[in-house]
Amino acid sequence: MSDVKTEDPTGENRRAVVQGTDASAATPGGRDGGSVGERSVAGAVDVDTMPTVVMIGGGQLARMTHQASIALGERLRVLAGSATEPAAQVSPDVVIGSHENLDDLRRAADGAVALTFDHEGVPVELLAALEAEGVSVLPPSTALIYAQDKLAMRVKLSELGLPVPDFADLNGPDATGDPAEELRRFGEAHDWSIVLKAVRGGYDGRGVWIVDSAEEAMSMLAARADDTHLIAEAKVDMRRELSAMVARSPFGQGATWPVVETVQRKGQCAVVVAPAPALPTDVATAAEEMALLLAQRLGVVGVMAVELFETTDGRLVVNELAMRPHNSGHWSMDGAVTSQFEQHLRAVLDYPLGDTRPRAPITVMANILGAEQTPQMSMDERLHHLMARMPDARVHLYGKQEKPDRKVGHVNLVAPLDASPDSAADVAELRERAERAAYWMSHAIWTDGWDEHSD
Ligand SMILES: Nc1ncnc2c1ncn2[C@@H]1O[C@H](COP(=O)(O)OP(=O)(O)O)[C@@H](O)[C@H]1O
Ligand SMILES: [Mg+2]
Repeated sequence: MSDVKTEDPTGENRRAVVQGTDASAATPGGRDGGSVGERSVAGAVDVDTMPTVVMIGGGQLARMTHQASIALGERLRVLAGSATEPAAQVSPDVVIGSHENLDDLRRAADGAVALTFDHEGVPVELLAALEAEGVSVLPPSTALIYAQDKLAMRVKLSELGLPVPDFADLNGPDATGDPAEELRRFGEAHDWSIVLKAVRGGYDGRGVWIVDSAEEAMSMLAARADDTHLIAEAKVDMRRELSAMVARSPFGQGATWPVVETVQRKGQCAVVVAPAPALPTDVATAAEEMALLLAQRLGVVGVMAVELFETTDGRLVVNELAMRPHNSGHWSMDGAVTSQFEQHLRAVLDYPLGDTRPRAPITVMANILGAEQTPQMSMDERLHHLMARMPDARVHLYGKQEKPDRKVGHVNLVAPLDASPDSAADVAELRERAERAAYWMSHAIWTDGWDEHSD
């Protein structure tokens, strides 16, 4: 488990990446207009001979990928909507533009050896156009479609014989019949224990509606069916949610990290425990093998998270795919030999993949989510107090303004070497500390009642 495997030892596909549209314009400042924040790197010869990867999207995933690129002596170019986005604040090579505009995407891709993503939002037609012009889009549009479109993903996974919840297309272009009738038929067949989902564009639980009755489902459909393509799926009776992260390179190497447990609150990931505590070895192996198989069969390049449900009777069901660094892999920054961010770069650059073994018996990641009311105490002061109280907390802040439930950072804590993921007490202790740290960073309140000034 958790090692690097190679599909294609002959190396036929080695360096499958295609150069950008105009390699002569690869130097910073060499592209047409619209770039900001490019700092002069005159004299930085080594940097200029290293390959440029462009990431579409300037969020925290791009910011942390940039962080990994620095260690490799490289720079990540980002296409960001504005100079204030998390990655645009830190990369010296920022193209300001829209991921929905082909010319902006072309400008961003110019001279880059690979174009990759921090979100799923680029229309697939634009990606196909870039590919036709010779841009190396990784993961390719033919794979990315299964991370963009939940219906296409459900259909494809069913074809591959992988376990998915029952589903029905309600109002898509290929749907047959009346959406309300279809919903009634599906709902009745599943005792109205169902979930409605937007096929595209949802994230962090936006675009997912867990309904409890026929009335609720019907009114949800009536309110959204005109402008949103919806599917219904069976609500899965689950013990917990898991994630299997995998990386795949064009050369055909694949590598999995240990399967983790993800804890969602309000439909979004809040806590991750790595590895998933007390997960039977055969289930963990099946999940990792499923992730490797999917990466290969879909032609994924880069990292992919396979979100899974562990059902109450111990089976695995695939929820969805994310073909980019993912919240369930943030633990790897401090808890694994190779982080998901470096691995993503290695994969899209077709470098050999890094070792994915954990560095500690347990790592817990807790997201720092904006509080309902932003605390009076500044983030700087909260950080200071956290450091004083928990010197082992690894804090990652994204440079984002605090807003309710917004992901503004995360904390990783690793367990001592004598801890075990099979010990409920060891897991609970580390989890309590990580969640206490993250809650402090969000709320300036210690959940154990500690007073930073008097204790
Ligand atoms: N079929 C389902 N049965 C039970 N819970 C579900 C189901 N689908 C989604 N959920 C819950 O909603 C969350 C978000 O759904 P998901 O499809 O992963 O959307 P998003 O793209 O917002 O992450 C999941 O992590 C899970 O907690
Ligand atoms: Mg999800």
